[in-house]
Amino acid sequence: MSTPGRTDSTRVTVPWIQARKARGELFTAVTAWDFPTARIVDNAGIDLVLVGDSLANTALGYESTLPVSLEEMLVAVRAVRRGVRRALLVADMPFGSYQTSDERALEAAVAFVKAGAEAVKLEGGRVRAPLVKRLVENGIPVLAHIGLTPQSVHVLGGYRVQGRSSAAADTLIEDARALAAAGAFGVVLEGVPASLAARITASIAVPTIGIGAGPDCDAQILVLADLLGLHPGPVPRFVRRYADLYGTAVDAVRRYREDVVSRDFPSPAESYGPLEPAPEVTGQTGR
Ligand code: KIV
Repeated sequence: MSTPGRTDSTRVTVPWIQARKARGELFTAVTAWDFPTARIVDNAGIDLVLVGDSLANTALGYESTLPVSLEEMLVAVRAVRRGVRRALLVADMPFGSYQTSDERALEAAVAFVKAGAEAVKLEGGRVRAPLVKRLVENGIPVLAHIGLTPQSVHVLGGYRVQGRSSAAADTLIEDARALAAAGAFGVVLEGVPASLAARITASIAVPTIGIGAGPDCDAQILVLADLLGLHPGPVPRFVRRYADLYGTAVDAVRRYREDVVSRDFPSPAESYGPLEPAPEVTGQTGR
C-alpha cells in the first residue's frame, strides 16, 4: 500500500544529494525530533531530515541550543530513524561534542551513526576542515554549517545576519571552499545575505542548503516547528508558516476539556457495554 504524500520510494543517499546540484535540481530539507515528526516529514517527500540541535528550543524548552546533550540528541536520532524510510537522516553534533578534541568528535559521530544517522552536521568555518576530513576518512559524511552559527551566539553577540561586510563575505566564501575541499558533502548557509549565498553556491561544487539565505541556494531547510506554527509568538522573517498547529492544538484540547466537564465525552458509542463479547480494543492509542 502506498503512503499518501510519499513521492518516491528510492532512499536518498549522499551521492544522490550531490547529483542534484550537478543536474541543477533543487532538493528539500526539514528538521524532525521524534517519531511522529519524522514520519510527517518523510511522508511529505522531504529529501533530507535533520535532527537539529534546535531540538533544544523546539522540543525540550531550552533557551538556546547550547545546553542540549549528546545523550538527548541520540534519543531523538533513534526515534527519528524509526520514522524515516526515504530521506537522508543527518544528526547535528551538539555544542561540546566536537569542540574539545577530534577524538571525542569522532566518538560522538560514531555514536550518531550507530543510532541510525547517515551523516552528521557541525558548525564552523575553515577551523573545522581537519575534523571534517577525519570524519569523512572514517566513513562518516559531514554537512558543514556556516554564517549564523547558533552555537557561537556568545561570540557573535546575538542571532545576527552574518557576512554583511565585504571582508566578512570573503571569509565565508573561503570557509565554504575549505570545508568542501575537506570533504563536506554540503554546506548549510544560515542567516547570510541572499547575494552572498548565491556567490557561495556558485563557488563550490557541493550543494548549499539555505536557511535565511535567500532563494539561490541548492536547497532550503526550515525548522519544522516554525513551518508548522507549533509555538506561539513571532518567527524570524525568513520563515514561512504553513500552519498554526499551536492554535489548532490548543483549540482541540480546550474542546475536549469542555466535553469532559459537560459530560458530553465519552458518549455511549465511545464506551464498552457489559453484554458485548469481550471486545478487542482496535486501533492503538498514540498511533
Ligand atoms: O538545528 C537546526 O535546526 C539547524 C538548522 C537551522 C539548519 O541547524
